[in-house]
Amino acid sequence: MNNFDIAPSILSADFGYLMRDIDNLKGTTEYLHLDVMDGHYVDNLSIGIPVIKSIRKHSDLIFDTHLMITNPEKYISAFAKAGSDMITFHIECTEEAQALIDSIRAEGCKAGIAIHPDTPIEVLLPWVDKCDLILIMSVRPGFGGQGYMDGSNERINAIRQAIDAKGADTILSVDGGINMNTIKGAYDAGARLLVAGNAVFAKEDPAQAVKELKACVTA
Ligand code: DX5
Ligand code: ZN
Repeated sequence: MNNFDIAPSILSADFGYLMRDIDNLKGTTEYLHLDVMDGHYVDNLSIGIPVIKSIRKHSDLIFDTHLMITNPEKYISAFAKAGSDMITFHIECTEEAQALIDSIRAEGCKAGIAIHPDTPIEVLLPWVDKCDLILIMSVRPGFGGQGYMDGSNERINAIRQAIDAKGADTILSVDGGINMNTIKGAYDAGARLLVAGNAVFAKEDPAQAVKELKACVTA
């Protein structure tokens, strides 16, 4: 990836016009963030395998699938075959993180680990050089449009330092409440793949919104 990128989350898109909204992004980003919710790990339901499979036919973006589900091991293969390029599971949802990483990679995808804001960040330290992506949640998972939680930048920075100390090239991502006011702080703390739902798809022109968010980082 470039120095940094935005991963627009379709959770805030108009699902009645999903490909229109995704196509509107053309040329502004390489990534698309896909939030999968099961009503168990989080208090919400969203999209799953058929939707990812359908949009895969019409999009060349890198599919960054974020599984907010219990028993993620049951569904790795299905989400990979549906067209995911990266699959991220929550550390809270497994006691077999290494086995999950191995199975995601065996499917030819990059393996990510996400962490809930209530989980101590130290839990991730042993994993920073053992996966391809770390996703720091900066809101409680389950809903778009929430505010960026205090303390998120400190958590990002702790993981940034751990990644750099090991000389790893793990992608550091942040998810939740990223907008024109918060993106620069998250970037400065060390995040390089910035997920944004509401700040992109709730805007009239999602492509323009991505450009403006990027400009906040590079200004
Ligand atoms: C929340 C999801 C996010 C969500 C972010 O649980 O994981 O990806 O779409 O939405 P915003 O950017 O609106 O906070
Ligand atoms: Zn997400």
